Amino acid sequence: MTNETQTRDAAAAAREAAPTDAWRAAIASRKLQVGREEGIPSVQAPPIEADLSRRRFIRASFWTGLGVTLLGSVGLFLDFFYPRNVKGFGGPVPAGRVSEYPKGGEPRYNSEGQFWLANLDPGETRGGGSGGADGFLALWQKCPHLGCVVPWRGEFAFEGDKGWYRCPCHGSTYTKSGIRVFGPAPRSMDTMKVEIDGSGNITVQTGQITPGGTDNPRRAIKPA
Ligand code: FES
Repeated sequence: MTNETQTRDAAAAAREAAPTDAWRAAIASRKLQVGREEGIPSVQAPPIEADLSRRRFIRASFWTGLGVTLLGSVGLFLDFFYPRNVKGFGGPVPAGRVSEYPKGGEPRYNSEGQFWLANLDPGETRGGGSGGADGFLALWQKCPHLGCVVPWRGEFAFEGDKGWYRCPCHGSTYTKSGIRVFGPAPRSMDTMKVEIDGSGNITVQTGQITPGGTDNPRRAIKPA
């Protein structure tokens, strides 16, 4: 093989190995074409500010929703359990008129309100008497010892005197104003709030009970 022939073959091989400028242009054009035809989206990272505000919004929405739900639940609970128009024991119980209770007379029993009501006379100075109370006093029927119903016993004699409250269970004995004078009860009979309007109508608030004490006589209410 001559030198001239070898040179021609080397030039041909070089042309085949290296792409021409025309090839490079064609390849670049093809890449652009494919990108446009297949619609490859460009990926852009969201701005940091927008991302933070979105998170804050989601968090605020969550807590607001939770708060509204809790408030609604509490409202429903209160609405369900709030006492309305309580009648009978636990609420206001009508107890007649002042004129139906003679001063110093026998206590009257009210089964609806579970109380005894008397118009006490401060002049009834006997042992089982008023203890100086002047006016209306309501005593809860429940014995402070173990809860038996305490009756008024006008004929029951104790220490030479007639007319006492006397518990049938263990014998606790109380004066007309409910002061304990005998028995295992730990205190005097409990009292209920008495209200008397301008027309002489008596209402006993059976939900407002005060533990009995030696000051029971001072809790009596005089009509206006
Ligand atoms: S329950 Fe009344 S004295 Fe025991």
